[in-house]
Amino acid sequence: MQLRVLYCFLLVGTVAVFCKENKGHISVVLLGATGDLAKKYLWQGLFHLYLNEVSSGHSFSFHGAALTVPEKAETLLFDALKSLSCPVDVHADRCALIKDQFLKLTRYRQLKTAENYTALHQDILASLAEEGLHEAGRLFYLSVPPFAYADIARNINGSCRPPPGAWLRVVLEKPFGHDYESAEKLANAMQTFFREDEIYRVDHYLGKQTVEQILPFRRRHHRHLDPIWNRHHVERVEIVMKETVDAKGRTSFYEEYGVIRDVIQNHLTEILTYVAMEVPRNLSDSNDVLRAKLELLGSLQPPEHNSAVIGQYQNYLPQVREEMEKNENYFTNTQTFAGVLIYIDNARWEGVPFLLVSGKDLDERTSYVRVVFKDNTFCVLQESKEETVKSSCQPKQIIFHIGNGALNSPAILLTRNLFKASFPLSQWKEASEFPNISYFGQPISDYYVWRPSQERDAYDVLISNIYRGRKGSFVTTKNLLASWKFWTRLLENLDETPRIYPGGAETGTMLDFLIEQRALRYVTDEPLEVISMGQKMNAFASTQSIFLGNTMVSNWAEPLIQKLAQDIQATAEEAVKSRGVFHLALSGGSSPVALFQQLSRHHYGFPWKHTHLWMVDERCVPFTDTDSNFGSLERHLLRHVRVPYVNIHPMPIHKNQRLCAEADNGTEEYAQEISALVSNSSFDMVLLGLGNDGHTASIFPGSQDGITGDKLVVFSESPLKPINRMSFSLPLINKAQKVAVLVLGKGKHDIITLISRAESKPKKWPIFGVKPTSGQLVWYIDYDAMFR
Ligand SMILES: *[C@@H]1O[C@H](CO)[C@@H](O)[C@H](O)[C@H]1NC(C)=O
Ligand SMILES: *[C@@H]1O[C@H](CO)[C@@H](O)[C@H](O)[C@H]1NC(C)=O
Ligand SMILES: *[C@@H]1O[C@H](CO)[C@@H](O)[C@H](O)[C@H]1NC(C)=O
Ligand SMILES: *[C@@H]1O[C@H](CO)[C@@H](O)[C@H](O)[C@H]1NC(C)=O
Ligand SMILES: *[C@@H]1O[C@H](CO)[C@@H](O)[C@H](O)[C@H]1NC(C)=O
Ligand SMILES: *[C@@H]1O[C@H](CO)[C@@H](O)[C@H](O)[C@H]1NC(C)=O
Repeated sequence: MQLRVLYCFLLVGTVAVFCKENKGHISVVLLGATGDLAKKYLWQGLFHLYLNEVSSGHSFSFHGAALTVPEKAETLLFDALKSLSCPVDVHADRCALIKDQFLKLTRYRQLKTAENYTALHQDILASLAEEGLHEAGRLFYLSVPPFAYADIARNINGSCRPPPGAWLRVVLEKPFGHDYESAEKLANAMQTFFREDEIYRVDHYLGKQTVEQILPFRRRHHRHLDPIWNRHHVERVEIVMKETVDAKGRTSFYEEYGVIRDVIQNHLTEILTYVAMEVPRNLSDSNDVLRAKLELLGSLQPPEHNSAVIGQYQNYLPQVREEMEKNENYFTNTQTFAGVLIYIDNARWEGVPFLLVSGKDLDERTSYVRVVFKDNTFCVLQESKEETVKSSCQPKQIIFHIGNGALNSPAILLTRNLFKASFPLSQWKEASEFPNISYFGQPISDYYVWRPSQERDAYDVLISNIYRGRKGSFVTTKNLLASWKFWTRLLENLDETPRIYPGGAETGTMLDFLIEQRALRYVTDEPLEVISMGQKMNAFASTQSIFLGNTMVSNWAEPLIQKLAQDIQATAEEAVKSRGVFHLALSGGSSPVALFQQLSRHHYGFPWKHTHLWMVDERCVPFTDTDSNFGSLERHLLRHVRVPYVNIHPMPIHKNQRLCAEADNGTEEYAQEISALVSNSSFDMVLLGLGNDGHTASIFPGSQDGITGDKLVVFSESPLKPINRMSFSLPLINKAQKVAVLVLGKGKHDIITLISRAESKPKKWPIFGVKPTSGQLVWYIDYDAMFR
């Protein structure tokens, strides 16, 4: 390859008339060179890179690589290159000339074996020596499935690293794992071969022009935005990517991922960080940008069971069965639609809902970020028409329109009552010509609208950033893992069954959801015809019968929880009427969360003012930890109801700067507090759960303490983390007037079946030790746990 000759000739043939000092040679290796992504975007992006940088002083060569032998792949590759095109402002002659050069600089390589990589390395060195050029760097773009990463990485590190002084950049495409654990595994594997600064993980949304503009926009307009970009003025933020296509043709991938892993964990989360993070002083400093992003990811409030609504378009199941060759017995809960509610735990955003929404087979294709401001101004005087548009009594919003939709191009829109934006002249310009449309409830004429002067593909932008070593628009290992930490928890807490929707416009209002007490729920009830036969049983009549000699109430989970909440309120009212006080002890774990939400959302008449709340058990972690039972009670109940501060009794696990040390006598202290306030230590009501191993409270099978004896409160150890616990003893529980055991979900079916047949051995299955001496025991078991 005659690199230098080409290089000088080109300059003479275009603009520059002298042969510039060569700043070094860059070899670009595109693996997966004949794949879809490469054909559609990557070659075009590399061509534009060449076009823009041809007079930068660097010389280039391009290697399109794949596993196939050259005879087969070469034609495929050159077919892909035929259709390369220039931006409209490039003169046709110049375009043709540069395209011709680009094709001459491009070669097919078979990269399959270690020898092939060594050969590539040697060829690069040899041709550079021949041309008298020095090496500036090597860029490997891996447009291949992740299972191929490790082999390629080993080969690059093993035999294709550039010599000292030249850089190595390795570009990876998603998916970057499937959950926290797999992402970490993959990241660790990469880190054995490459340094962090060599790895460029692409999220192509970070190359979208509107997304790329969010931080500069915030920085440039900080005088206007600083006073309003916060919880006092922002009502909510919507980050949305709607698609009309479905998963047809990709179901085997989609079955593994679903919409949350496919686009929300990555694209929408990256956008969220740009909108919500603190803007670093110097946006050119990638490290500052990445650090601020990481900080934001770390302040996302852990998601809860009700943080999301999920759906699945009706045709998905038949498509999966057909494409994956599954029979009629195959069912799937993969989400093709999700709405997720996120709160950010910092002073700027406390309490502001961020909604991340995406789905397939919806009514339109669009993606945008919408910042809706609060309607918090009262205008005293009437306004003239002209003034109305600018009045702060009108709705205020800023929209970062990413693409498609009614506007069908990237755009930034601000209602005219906010402020007039300004952009560097060459980049974005104010748009005046628009169809007479209404956009988010306001005529488009109510907005200032800005559009990029020239539209650029996201991959163009990213490839240029890779060339410049701008790591700020790529996903670092730390940021990736911080994002997965959040999303893995959300996925684990997700509802099991998505709502089935017809797809397209027919979906109507079925997927509309609302925010209520920091949780999401669908606005409409599920229509009956999509509920399967078994579920058509009368949903509101709980059945009552006997389980292990005690009363049992059963129903589907939701009505069952409603019934339990009613029973608790009735007990509370009775207790307050006769004694002026109600002592309620609550368990931790996931089942009671739905109960807490029910109580806080629907029981406004509950006598909270006279209620004392106690903990049945606690995990030995700080109260701020997501595993803390008290923390969960605080998030789901206490912050929504008005229980007097002095009536709340967390367990004293944290004393003398340590957790649950025997010597601190926390158990004795709690027992004394109970004796002091609860007459005869007999609670009006104790709520328990049931573990898969038969544990209840935190009394586990084989516990030394707490099954019998006269201790009221004990330390215990769980087989699962966090290991150390503090718990009511069974004798204390058995003093109560009422004990309710709540058992929810398919996961509990086995233990329910087991204990219904087993011999009553409290040492083996502590739940058998629950036998109130003079009170009443009631089981609340849902149909899933009962029948599965
Ligand atoms: C790649 O390596 C294999 C095995 O070493 C060899 O057979 C093949 O010819 C090599 N391909 C090229 C294009 O050199
Ligand atoms: C990466 O290459 C270096 C230098 O050749 C080598 O010492 C190292 O063992 C390689 N790393 C792995 C994980 O193979
Ligand atoms: C901003 O950061 C870049 C990259 O680190 C640096 O070159 C530049 O000097 C910085 N600018 C200022 C004003 O600090
Ligand atoms: C825009 O359209 C609306 C209704 O579609 C119409 O009432 C209004 O007069 C139109 N405005 C202009 C400027 O064409
Ligand atoms: C805990 O109780 C024991 C026995 O009653 C006593 O000796 C010890 O001082 C107590 N520890 C603390 C920190 O109060
Ligand atoms: C306390 O317990 C004793 C003995 O079990 C019983 O006689 C007494 O009535 C109880 N007192 C109250 C207020 O329940």
